[in-house]
Amino acid sequence: MIRIAESARDYTTLLAIQIECIEGLTDTYTPDEIQHWVDYLKNETADRYSEYNNTVYVDDSGKIEGFISWKTTEGSSASIESLYIRNSYGGRGIGKLLLQNVEADLPGKTIHVRSTLNAQSFYERNGYIYTGKSISRAGFMISLLKKKL
Ligand SMILES: CC(C)(COP(=O)(O)OP(=O)(O)OC[C@H]1O[C@@H](n2cnc3c(N)ncnc32)[C@H](O)[C@@H]1OP(=O)(O)O)[C@@H](O)C(=O)NCCC(=O)NCCS
Repeated sequence: MIRIAESARDYTTLLAIQIECIEGLTDTYTPDEIQHWVDYLKNETADRYSEYNNTVYVDDSGKIEGFISWKTTEGSSASIESLYIRNSYGGRGIGKLLLQNVEADLPGKTIHVRSTLNAQSFYERNGYIYTGKSISRAGFMISLLKKKL
């Protein structure tokens, strides 16, 4: 089931999922980069999610298994900040489901994504165009992509 996250308890779960996912990106980032990124996140509060709309996927027991954070920006744009699916729930179509759920709310918008390098091809498979590289707020390399809906 998909729902909107909005409680402090939800945000704490999102932070835990994000950290779990980042710790799994060992094929893409060095141990130092991952450690630095996790430390950066641990210094943030779960409030970091409150500036976004957070759509979550919950399993039959109500446990959050993944989430997508997004917001509309100026003009006809929107941005996706985060999309993280628990490692044990990957490959079941949840990432695609959350992405399509957000896209359905944004007709006519151009969505900009700041993606970890490993997920670039996931977005390309979902119609996003690669536009270049950038450095994230935590200081590591990411890919920029966009899609006109
Ligand atoms: C990347 C991520 C969000 C994908 O979510 P997921 O639920 O595992 O992916 P899905 O099962 O919905 O896959 C949808 C499609 O994308 C493909 N896909 C999934 N991960 C992929 C990847 N890393 N590269 C290329 N294709 C990928 C699947 O094969 C599937 O293809 P299909 O539609 O032809 O069957 C998830 O693996 C994840 O959270 N990874 C770690 C964190 C991360 O990197 N997040 C992105 C930060 S912006």
